[in-house]
Amino acid sequence: MTTSSLFSSVSVGELDLAHRVVLAPLTRLRSTQPGDVPNALNAAYYKQRASKGGLLITEATQISLQGKGYPAAPGIYTPAQIEGWKLVTEAVHSKGGYVFAQLWHVGRISHSSLHPDLGLPVSASAIAPADGSKVLTASFQQVEFETPRALEAAELPGIVEDYRHAAECSQAAGFDGVEIHGANGYLLDQFLEDGTNQRTDQYGGSIENRARLLLEVVDAVVGVLGKGRVGIRLSPYGKFNGMGDSNPVALFTHVLEQLSARGVAYVHLVEPRAVNAEGDTSIDPALLETAKVYRKAFRGALISAGGYNRELAVQAVASGYADAVAFGRHFLANPDLPERLRVGAELNKYDRSTFYGGGEEGYTDYPALQEVTA
Ligand SMILES: Cc1cc2nc3c(=O)[nH]c(=O)nc-3n(C[C@H](O)[C@H](O)[C@H](O)COP(=O)(O)O)c2cc1C
Repeated sequence: MTTSSLFSSVSVGELDLAHRVVLAPLTRLRSTQPGDVPNALNAAYYKQRASKGGLLITEATQISLQGKGYPAAPGIYTPAQIEGWKLVTEAVHSKGGYVFAQLWHVGRISHSSLHPDLGLPVSASAIAPADGSKVLTASFQQVEFETPRALEAAELPGIVEDYRHAAECSQAAGFDGVEIHGANGYLLDQFLEDGTNQRTDQYGGSIENRARLLLEVVDAVVGVLGKGRVGIRLSPYGKFNGMGDSNPVALFTHVLEQLSARGVAYVHLVEPRAVNAEGDTSIDPALLETAKVYRKAFRGALISAGGYNRELAVQAVASGYADAVAFGRHFLANPDLPERLRVGAELNKYDRSTFYGGGEEGYTDYPALQEVTA
């Protein structure tokens, strides 16, 4: 058996990737135009990170105004947003790269100031995050969460339709595919996990019922783009945004088996290292066993993310666990990360203070290798 390398080619759905270093979805809150429209600066950021045959996943992008949870986050549901995203897709394609849009409905991780005409944020059940975290208002103020309104069963076809429409808009904007954001405590995850879903209808209770909305969304989006151009992100270990489930292994094994049966392009898992403090790559051995269960449950391509450095990423691919590895913070700070990892170059350090909001600083001004060595 030959072992695979982080720097070798691989097929992921309909894409033929030239290497396996993927840009993880990173919210940067720099689409400041009215209407949440991506701009030329956003395009410059993605272009810097594009490489021939490499896959970028965009920042999470709301599928509707109701799905918006952060100021200056972009959307993908209006003609102006489609035009804005064309700047990004054309820039990435000009370097021979691929780009998937991450489709997002935040559910309860929102604030009514972001959509004043729509009232309260919505969720599976009327339960506010209780982990002490705060929400950002339209004017970037951090305030307490509001208690969301539980979506009526009759509203759920409308949510599925919003995802389907966003998939059509993504196609019109020139994306190579989409990643459905089922992770990190946003709407689809709120339906999956029983800490946030206490519904008594056919979208709550059993694992099959809680997985129903996510799978209906997958089917609708696959109906637009085809299964080879649809990936999905899950965070089976995540506590972020006040999440929890009484039996995550049973829940996520079911979800992964269902996704496997549908033959989607890939599943993107946020690994447990990501729940630890920054820089801490230690991992509970019990979770490594769980990872094996999940790997077995999904037979397609697996993108793994969370706390990776070069060594861990090389190992994850060589061991056959992951088909590709997504990097978040290192890719944010190193526009030419795939090349730096290939040659084993030093990495720029990321600056947390410029992660969210602002302009070029901490966004498009991290130097590439040639600029560092010149
Ligand atoms: C600034 C920032 C923004 C993020 N935004 C998103 C997002 O929009 N969608 C998402 O699924 N994950 C998001 N994440 C999580 C990352 O995709 C990734 O899983 C996490 O940073 C761990 O990977 P890393 O250790 O390589 O940074 C974000 C992380 C950071 C640091």
